[in-house]
Amino acid sequence: MKRRNFIRAGIHAGAMTAMVSVLPLPSLAAGVRRYAITAAPTAAHLGPPDRPATSLWLYGGTSPGPLIEAWRGEELEVEFLNNLDVPTTMHWHGIRNLNEMDGVPDLTQAAIEPGERFTYRFPLQDAGSFWYHAHNKGWEQLARGLYGPLIVREPDEVSGPHDITLVADDWRLDDDYQLHEDSFGSLMDWSHQGRLGNWLTVNGTTDPEIPVAGGTVRLRLINAANARTLAFRLGNGAPMRIVALDGAPCAAFDAESVRVAPAQRVDVLASFDDGRTVLEEISTGEPIDAVRFVSTPHAAMPAPALADRPRSDRPRSDRPRSDRPDTVGARVIDIHMQGGAMGNLESARFEGETVPLRQLAREHSKLWAFNGIVGGYDHMLAELALGEVAVLRVRNDTRWEHAMHLHGHHFWVNSREFGVAGRDVLRDTYLMAPGETADLVFIADNPGLWLFHCHMMEHHAAGMGGVISVS
Ligand code: C2O
Ligand code: CU
Repeated sequence: MKRRNFIRAGIHAGAMTAMVSVLPLPSLAAGVRRYAITAAPTAAHLGPPDRPATSLWLYGGTSPGPLIEAWRGEELEVEFLNNLDVPTTMHWHGIRNLNEMDGVPDLTQAAIEPGERFTYRFPLQDAGSFWYHAHNKGWEQLARGLYGPLIVREPDEVSGPHDITLVADDWRLDDDYQLHEDSFGSLMDWSHQGRLGNWLTVNGTTDPEIPVAGGTVRLRLINAANARTLAFRLGNGAPMRIVALDGAPCAAFDAESVRVAPAQRVDVLASFDDGRTVLEEISTGEPIDAVRFVSTPHAAMPAPALADRPRSDRPRSDRPRSDRPDTVGARVIDIHMQGGAMGNLESARFEGETVPLRQLAREHSKLWAFNGIVGGYDHMLAELALGEVAVLRVRNDTRWEHAMHLHGHHFWVNSREFGVAGRDVLRDTYLMAPGETADLVFIADNPGLWLFHCHMMEHHAAGMGGVISVS
């Protein structure tokens, strides 16, 4: 169980079938990479194998869902079947997607009803670490396990034991290893940090043992938790070299530990010459072993899962894929975030009326607002012209951290996530400190209706979200 080779999961039917693309693609030999994924109730062992399995909702019967692996320049086609009892959608987090493939119910598509299918198909413009997850009642559907990794590789890149995807989650389990269902919708969670778990898994297993190649290994850390910001360090104290954030290459830098907020991805290079190394999760101040790595000389490792790609030893570029745009004359969109416990929001506009926060909480489970308005898919934050440079000037006037995510675009931000000295990075999800004001700078080059929301799922559900229109 612990040695299950997560990297090899997935269906690679019709790989590289020659097909005419419906959209202009980058000038690479483009094909269609096809997967079929079903969401269904499934039990899985999150705890030790001799403990009860947990009843979950999963993609492809595994936690996390199957690794979707594709190459930049290809189109990805996922034939999705909803075998759940509830409507759902799939969202492709971090992909500069076609709007109608973005998977936001009631905004970009109708929710996919039980028993129904939907085919997602879109071009992959960027290589990097992404993930997919349900986007209908995410606070419940993510907590029940509906997510998986999506890795887009450069055309000459192969998978293998030097490139490890690690999907972390913290689950809230009861003594029988079942999901704590009574606390779904808990106002206590929704007004505070969100639903925090008590059981950490990486790639669906507690404290897995994962073989890695000796030498330099790329670890792709993905945080699939509803609300907990995780933090990792290597047990041997070795530095981690951060080379990409949210699927976008960054100017590389070293860190002893790295925080990964919900929905964020951090790619690090680490050196494995020692035989055994532990990756520790340290967010609570009490380090716990998240992963045990066992390094083996490269030659002894199994062949890469997909051998239909040429191998290249050319080092990957760590140059950001675009430069921060000039913001002189840019459109500034002010977003004043308020609400939550211990906050300064007394009342907010909700469905056209001003309602005291207490009543909003009690009657509607709403607790957060942007610019005095409880957010929803009908809350238009800005209407931008295609190609316009935009600055989301976000002020976190709450007592809580928030992981602010923009759909369909990456943004530049002078990040305070890696220490007091700001660092200009390209991301799709930015973790803001209480009291912080940040400029999220992007070029509105992707037409459609795009969500901007907190990725702490309970905050989003309770009002931290709005829409940016680009046309
Ligand atoms: Cu990970 Cu609205 O998305
Ligand atoms: Cu939040």
